[in-house]
Amino acid sequence: MKSDSDITNQLKKKYESIDQDLEVHLEGLLHTKPINYWDYIQTDVLLNLQKPKTNFPDEKVFIMYHQVSELLFKMILSEIEQVANNEIDDLDTEIFTEKIMRISRYFDVLTSSFSIMKDGMDIAQYNKFRTALTPASGFQSAQYRLVEFGSTELINLIDKRFRDSVSKDICCNSAFEKLYWQAAGKDYKTGKKTYTLSAFEKRYKDEFIQFSKTYEDKNLWSKYKELPKASQENEALIKAMRHYDYTVNVKWVMAHYNTANHYLNIGGKTAEATGGSEWVKYMHPKYQKRIFFPDLWTAKEIENWGINI
Ligand code: HEM
Repeated sequence: MKSDSDITNQLKKKYESIDQDLEVHLEGLLHTKPINYWDYIQTDVLLNLQKPKTNFPDEKVFIMYHQVSELLFKMILSEIEQVANNEIDDLDTEIFTEKIMRISRYFDVLTSSFSIMKDGMDIAQYNKFRTALTPASGFQSAQYRLVEFGSTELINLIDKRFRDSVSKDICCNSAFEKLYWQAAGKDYKTGKKTYTLSAFEKRYKDEFIQFSKTYEDKNLWSKYKELPKASQENEALIKAMRHYDYTVNVKWVMAHYNTANHYLNIGGKTAEATGGSEWVKYMHPKYQKRIFFPDLWTAKEIENWGINI
């Protein structure tokens, strides 16, 4: 245990280094209020963030589960940021593996809890309150896009139809216009963007281009490739990377797709989604073959991506 004088000396040093008087700060401690759970966790703010547009009780389930998802995305981004910005001392094979598993666990939770969406809302209520949300869509989740930019190189997020014909170094505006998710918001015959996509771009495009530029050399895949060859061949690390890739790009995507089918595909009749995409095709992983770390999968595995799950 540290002695009182140890702590006092450390405090003195800390405040001296910023030209502050320790005595004044100690006196301040005499006057501060003890901390409470509700102040610290900000429960009043958090529990007042649900503003339904209708009186259907299940709309609150819908809002809150989206909010839970956004919080988990934030936790994932915080982990990615630490790896990217070299905030972790001695980022060796073991620590890298632990970090990837930590990020994966958040996505495991998102995947297994998706049943709250699929089985946790009344279909009739959902199909009524969703009309009040149009044209908003989870498609407009900015953090989901940041998780993708932070996980892999831009080339792996380019629409499959253009991936082989564009340069591996594609960036900025030309990359942005060819991202896989443009397909959900564009009529490819006329090129016209939906309101859902245009509004999303107006709000976030500059930020996305800046973020993707910053992360082009420090996303998880680039960081992995910077590790010594022996680390890159480490079985546990490869297993963790594959687990993360598969959880995000097949398991979560399938849980999401099955949910959309549950609510929007009734009696063989496919309803239009709030974001207006051709969702049946767009959402299934077998069409897009989004893969963060393609080099870690065999040709056969890539060919069968999202099939038989
Ligand atoms: C009843 C629940 C849900 C349904 C029926 C549903 C349906 C859809 C549909 C049809 C799309 C395609 C775009 C469109 O036309 O709107 C989409 C996109 C998206 N949704 Fe959901 N969704 C649900 C819940 C969620 C939740 C809880 C999240 C978590 C944040 C989410 C995040 C996303 C994201 C990130 C996209 C874009 C995915 C991509 O580009 O591949 N969705 N959703």
